[in-house]
Amino acid sequence: MFANRISQTLHDEHRATITLMERLEQSLGRRQPIDISDPKDARLLRDLVLAIDSDTIRHFDFEETHLFTLLESVGDQLIGDHLTEEHAVMRPLGETLAALSRTAESAGFDKASWEEFRRVGAEFVQRMVVHVQKEEMALLPLVNDTMDSETEIRLYNVYTGNT
Ligand SMILES: [Fe+2]
Ligand SMILES: [Fe+2]
Repeated sequence: MFANRISQTLHDEHRATITLMERLEQSLGRRQPIDISDPKDARLLRDLVLAIDSDTIRHFDFEETHLFTLLESVGDQLIGDHLTEEHAVMRPLGETLAALSRTAESAGFDKASWEEFRRVGAEFVQRMVVHVQKEEMALLPLVNDTMDSETEIRLYNVYTGNT
């Protein structure tokens, strides 16, 4: 979809995130709490912990450190500031959600912990979906159109850990 590999990589990660958010949303909408003896439910908790602890934080950090600064240098500071603010709201929500998931992986849910998980999870899903939509519409096309190929190679290596 994107010629620029940074845009394409982030796009692929956005799609994976949306798929995970859809799985989470489905389980939040059910009457019964997530059941850790159900392999599908247990996998959702594990995937949430892994995704938030490594992928999401790494993705946010990369965007802030390397992409929003690039946008600023071509005169688009507002979009970077706005997306950074959204990250700042989602980071603690994500940390809480990962912590609740980790606890539930071994202890399961009771009424109170399920209510908290639902509340935090629903807010995280809602914010993440909107955030990804904005980046798909505004950030990735702009990176695709403005980034020179030397920067693309350098940042791709930074992001994929080849340097
Ligand atoms: Fe972002
Ligand atoms: Fe993103």
